[in-house]
Amino acid sequence: MSAYIASLWNDKGGVGKTTVAVNMATVAAATGLKVALVDADPQRSARDWQTLAGEEGFGFPVIGLDTLQQLKGLKEISQPYDLVIVDGAPRAPECAATVLKQSDLFLIPVQPSALDLLATQHLASTVVERLELIEGTDTKLEARFLITMAGKNTVLGREISNAAQELGVPVMKSRTHRYEEVKKLVGRGETVVDLGDDHPSKQEIAGIINEAFAILNGEKEQKSA
Ligand SMILES: Nc1ncnc2c1ncn2[C@@H]1O[C@H](COP(=O)(O)OP(=O)(O)O)[C@@H](O)[C@H]1O
Ligand SMILES: [Mg+2]
Repeated sequence: MSAYIASLWNDKGGVGKTTVAVNMATVAAATGLKVALVDADPQRSARDWQTLAGEEGFGFPVIGLDTLQQLKGLKEISQPYDLVIVDGAPRAPECAATVLKQSDLFLIPVQPSALDLLATQHLASTVVERLELIEGTDTKLEARFLITMAGKNTVLGREISNAAQELGVPVMKSRTHRYEEVKKLVGRGETVVDLGDDHPSKQEIAGIINEAFAILNGEKEQKSA
């Protein structure tokens, strides 16, 4: 069986794509899965993070795919792995479409505001068009918004669910919250795994992975999330 490809994409920078991608890959690898991280961002943030992690890096490959041509080979490159996480590039609609076509799960990280969801309108409509196109075929694709960097007391109100509904992309139940310790990880070349199992950020990344697999395995109750 070939890898599941789970991509984190948003045309906007600073929404947490790289943070979620690196941490998801690391936590998944720690559970024994054969993981690779694809850095599709020419700014190379995931690759730089790995360099800071020292000689052994994260312990799994970080593969830079910087051009549209390289990204067309995503599926082929993914074959030897169980799970490939793609860290997306901002402002690269053609790359987004190519990665979307090859992804099993397409996650759009957004900060918890209806405006931020609505700002993804172009990307969301590309996703919805793709879903309509493959409906009734063997091609599988699931797409979700992933709320990132929520505040401690953030309540996800009706505005957010209305925005998601309007855009036609459901919201994952799992989300990330803002932690100072998480912000400091990059500079140390560390990940949430280094924060330990008791840290809530480690737990929420593990929760995202579990929910991702539940969605990929077609557990229907997740669909209304
Ligand atoms: N859960 C979090 N808690 C605190 N800071 C975070 C969290 N997630 C991301 N950040 C910070 O937000 C900024 C943008 O995140 P990043 O993952 O680089 O976004 P993107 O890849 O979408 O540009 C970075 O400074 C990062 O450290
Ligand atoms: Mg990034």
